Amino acid sequence: MIKKAKMILNKDYKISDIDPRIYGSFIEHLGRAVYGGIYEPTHPKADEHGFRTDVIELVKELNVPIIRYPGGNFVSGYNWEDGVGPKENRPRRTELAWGTIETNEMGTNEFADWAKKVNTDVMMAVNLGTRGADAARNLVEYCNHNSGTYWSDLRRKHGYAEPHNIKTWCLGNEMDGPWQICHKTAEEYGRLAAETAKVMKWVDPSIEVVACGSSNSAMPTFAEWEATVLDHTYEYVDYISLHQYYGNAENNTANFIAKTEDFDRFIKSVIATCDYVKAKKRSKKTINLSIDEWNVWFHSNEADKKIEKWSIAPHQLEDVYNFEDSLLVGGMLITMLQHSDRVKMACLAQLVNVIAPIMTTNGGGTWRQTIFYPFMHVSNYGRGCVINPIISSPTYDSKDFTDVPVLQSAAVFNEEKEQLTIFALNKAINDNLEFECDIRSFEGYKVLEHIVLTHNDVKAVNTESNPFNVKPNSNGNAKIVDGIIHANLDKISWNVIRLSKKIN
Ligand code: AHR
Repeated sequence: MIKKAKMILNKDYKISDIDPRIYGSFIEHLGRAVYGGIYEPTHPKADEHGFRTDVIELVKELNVPIIRYPGGNFVSGYNWEDGVGPKENRPRRTELAWGTIETNEMGTNEFADWAKKVNTDVMMAVNLGTRGADAARNLVEYCNHNSGTYWSDLRRKHGYAEPHNIKTWCLGNEMDGPWQICHKTAEEYGRLAAETAKVMKWVDPSIEVVACGSSNSAMPTFAEWEATVLDHTYEYVDYISLHQYYGNAENNTANFIAKTEDFDRFIKSVIATCDYVKAKKRSKKTINLSIDEWNVWFHSNEADKKIEKWSIAPHQLEDVYNFEDSLLVGGMLITMLQHSDRVKMACLAQLVNVIAPIMTTNGGGTWRQTIFYPFMHVSNYGRGCVINPIISSPTYDSKDFTDVPVLQSAAVFNEEKEQLTIFALNKAINDNLEFECDIRSFEGYKVLEHIVLTHNDVKAVNTESNPFNVKPNSNGNAKIVDGIIHANLDKISWNVIRLSKKIN
């Protein structure tokens, strides 16, 4: 059966300019994200620093403007001083968050080097688990102060004359979670985060800081956590974080790809909580959102239970993503775009090997997982401002959700480049969708390309031996007649309709 959906876009109805940092990602000292992922000095394709150049190329394809580092749960037990200075002096430590051994071969300076190679900024997290304000302010001084002080001169001694100038800092990680090393109550964390942010900004007033929000929307302390933390930190912080992972352990595709509805509710609730504290404080300042961990995560849960304790860089959290996972990732990106007025940063968690779009084998090759593609599309073509769409779509009900629109879509207008891009998901499992979109206000725009990502098996995956089993094609049939786009959106498909005034 063919379903029909309509959309209207008007170039003057803008939601917001997009902060490119919503296309951020995350590298944690966990599993093979660092060792065997971005760094593998013995690999034939390693550069003079030991960075895998094949991985660098794939990261560049994703066009990631900011990468969170070094954790994650890892950061709550991390002594950053262990990871700087001569490598031969760096200690091996038991890593309590993931039960492994950390060799500290990579640390702050090496990560800053790698970030330059992939044209990205660093979002640095400080340890508010085992440590606190002192270690955090010293790290800011080490990274950002020019010279003439103990920590900045130590950085120079370590071979880095220029400061790293890291502008974005996370005040700890998931401090609401009992799994966190030195988990805290909202009161304890709120006070610590406020004082830490205060002194970090005294060292470098140009930095922006992110307070930890809830680890997910199902946390029993959500949204009281946000309200209490912001009560303490409001004047010192710039963003509050949200983390959200989804799974499909119940194997219910329709319900799984509808989880964007939950994500949307979560974002709205955090915005409401921020604005409640704003009202309470009679503040003129607005706190924005940093969704600094988001993805699908559940495939590797069982395998991870079998990992030998105290191993080095084991195969941990190596989810193998299938086609339906890529649809949820696309849907989560669209959801974030619709909230681009308040969501200013986001990090796909993570980037390489660990719940990642990019996979490697040690000493071997690389490949792109299914989720690579929607992220690559939105990161590359979703720059500009988001247009507020009027959508009329058929809906469906699933196990946890009712009235889920079959069409989920967002449109990004890049005025400077005269480009309009429509990202559209057809969530109907069995039905193609006849899509009509009124773009009469975009005079002279023509279809450049209609990219489609689809597969007849929702469980299809990419592997090293079959790396392009799931990949996009440009065979979509979008065309414009009298200012109206007409396209057939394949059942259960991700679509990118690219339009421009200039055809080149
Ligand atoms: O990204 C994997 C883990 O998920 C992070 O370390 C933690 O912050 C979250 O629970």
